Amino acid sequence: TGADVMRILLPEKLSDSGIAMLSEGCEVVKDYDLTPERLLEVIGDYDAIIVRSATQVTREVLEAGTRLKVVGRAGVGVDNVCLPAATERGMLVVNAPTGNCVAAAEHSIALLCSLARNVAAADATLKAGGWNRGAFVGASLVGKTLGVLGFGRIGREVARRAKGLGMTVVAHDPYLSAESATTAGVTLASLDDTVAGADFLTLHMPLVDSTRNLLDARLLGLAKPGMRLINAARGGIVVEDALLAALESGAIAGAALDCFSQEPPFKFPDSVSAALAAHPRVVATPHLGASTKEAQEDVAIEIATAVKAALNGEM
Ligand code: MLT
Repeated sequence: TGADVMRILLPEKLSDSGIAMLSEGCEVVKDYDLTPERLLEVIGDYDAIIVRSATQVTREVLEAGTRLKVVGRAGVGVDNVCLPAATERGMLVVNAPTGNCVAAAEHSIALLCSLARNVAAADATLKAGGWNRGAFVGASLVGKTLGVLGFGRIGREVARRAKGLGMTVVAHDPYLSAESATTAGVTLASLDDTVAGADFLTLHMPLVDSTRNLLDARLLGLAKPGMRLINAARGGIVVEDALLAALESGAIAGAALDCFSQEPPFKFPDSVSAALAAHPRVVATPHLGASTKEAQEDVAIEIATAVKAALNGEM
């Protein structure tokens, strides 16, 4: 490899088709066991880094990245990248905004159905030798109202599928016009009314300053008793101790959580995230929204295309 070959670091798994694209003309280094300390030591050797959600691309990482030009996020949310530091240093941050949207929507629907029918808890008792049908009487979806907070690419896909299940969809999104809501066949409502009217509430917004801690005790206090929450967006959107309190008091009936403010939750055993993941009325999955074979292929190609374009100055 010549001195001016672009070097790309992959600290998290990327599908082979994406790696093949990146390897044309660049040197790609996979290091899936990189610790945060080691990342700081090696980042200075790279022109680009491509991460999923586990790597925190902090200000320190970007400052140590003396030849870093591009940060690629193999997914939608860029909340694990310190955007102000990247901007200050003239680095491009690119994401893969479409490749896993259907996967995220499908996982949200999977969580919705398992929450309504106690699939996970019932499975656990059966595997432990039980057969307790009385304990797992579920809630029907048909005719119920699904509140969708955030009506972007993923929220829309969830809404279409929920309508197929016979649900009424009410959506809140500060950027949604009444016309586009009508076109999508959903009713537009304020944040408070969406929460208050929901039998099931699902979150599909990015984690940014305006959404951090959005679902707090006040908002949860508006929920119908028996409301169930689905969060396959980001843990930080929910005030987790308020959610835990609402579950404990019975103010809401259950939650299905694919993401936590501390991930993985049991790495932080005393955290509220860990208490939620362990809670009997919570269905928990380990940030699997984007994890289908198909979505990871699409995302890998999408991010490889974007990172190459950025490295070649085509952006
Ligand atoms: C995303 O923002 O697209 C997800 O967090 C994807 C992932 O799991 O990497």
